[in-house]
Amino acid sequence: MHNPNNSCCFLVTIFLFFSYAVVTGANKGIGFEICRQLASKGIVVVLTSRNEKRGLESVQKLKESGLSDFVVFHQLDVADINSIASLADFIKSQYGKLDILVWLKPSFFNALDFLFFFKNSNLNFYSIFYLIKTLYYI
Ligand SMILES: NC(=O)c1ccc[n+]([C@@H]2O[C@H](COP(=O)([O-])OP(=O)(O)OC[C@H]3O[C@@H](n4cnc5c(N)ncnc54)[C@H](OP(=O)(O)O)[C@@H]3O)[C@@H](O)[C@H]2O)c1
Repeated sequence: MHNPNNSCCFLVTIFLFFSYAVVTGANKGIGFEICRQLASKGIVVVLTSRNEKRGLESVQKLKESGLSDFVVFHQLDVADINSIASLADFIKSQYGKLDILVWLKPSFFNALDFLFFFKNSNLNFYSIFYLIKTLYYI
């Protein structure tokens, strides 16, 4: 017998399969876990990290857990305008759109960020504004 719930689940699954997400600061912590959860739903996730080596290692972990079709890496330092522009170009050329942006505020309390707290706090405000504006208009 036809179950309308099955059709609905099918449509949602198809919709998710053509969705693209970016997660910032995702080489560890909450960002990493969000990447895992989105990819396991069939969403293509761009796992970003300011440090390329750490980011690639995290992508590798997700690929080894069977999510290789749904996770890609791109470098992103949320405090660096050039890095944001480079990510936007990548998404535009590879996917042509962006459906989900998960921006996680970087934790301030590591030694280096703490030393430059005032400089970084201003930079982060404007760069986050730029990040959202740039990715929104893809
Ligand atoms: N964990 C919790 O229970 C919890 C609860 C409430 C709120 N939060 C908040 O949620 C946010 C994430 O928490 P978390 O526990 O996942 O933190 P985390 O494990 O310390 O991870 C922070 C991530 O942000 C990245 N990052 C730092 N500066 C960056 C920059 N300029 N550009 C791009 N990425 C940058 C770090 O990269 P590196 O590895 O290169 O440093 C790391 O991947 C924080 O703002 C935290 O305060 C966390």
